[in-house]
Amino acid sequence: NIVFVLNGPNLNLLGTREPEIYGSATLDDIAAMLEDRGRELGLDIDVRQSNHEGHLIDWMHEAQAVGARAILINPGAYTHTSIALLDAAKSITTPVIEVHLSDPHTREEFRHISYIGMAAVQTVKGLGPNSYLVALDAAAQL
Ligand code: DQA
Repeated sequence: NIVFVLNGPNLNLLGTREPEIYGSATLDDIAAMLEDRGRELGLDIDVRQSNHEGHLIDWMHEAQAVGARAILINPGAYTHTSIALLDAAKSITTPVIEVHLSDPHTREEFRHISYIGMAAVQTVKGLGPNSYLVALDAAAQL
């Protein structure tokens, strides 16, 4: 009963990266929060981060291969550019939930399109680290 939590480029710098937009929590802080909530929900959580698009795609395939219950993914800027991530989401039956700390729709125009969102069962955005928690609660309902 595992949930993959995949994080894309620059999210390794959370905590110091544009804190006025992304807050002060680090990715390790978010992982700890998710593991706590996962314990309550009876879900194992596997949090990963990569700055490389192909790693995210390989991990989506792996989630399918191991029968993960869901994928939570914050693809960072690949959200707005990557048809390959969209195709990966469409190529697997594992449900994908899109997560963002900020609300890209209230930001620059180039953040308004989300490719992965076209194949996501749900998008949770704008809640800071709580976006991940809400997404995990949604995964538990699947
Ligand atoms: C983000 C929003 C994206 O537009 C941006 O490129 C990120 C982070 C978020 O979590 O708010 O890297 O996905």
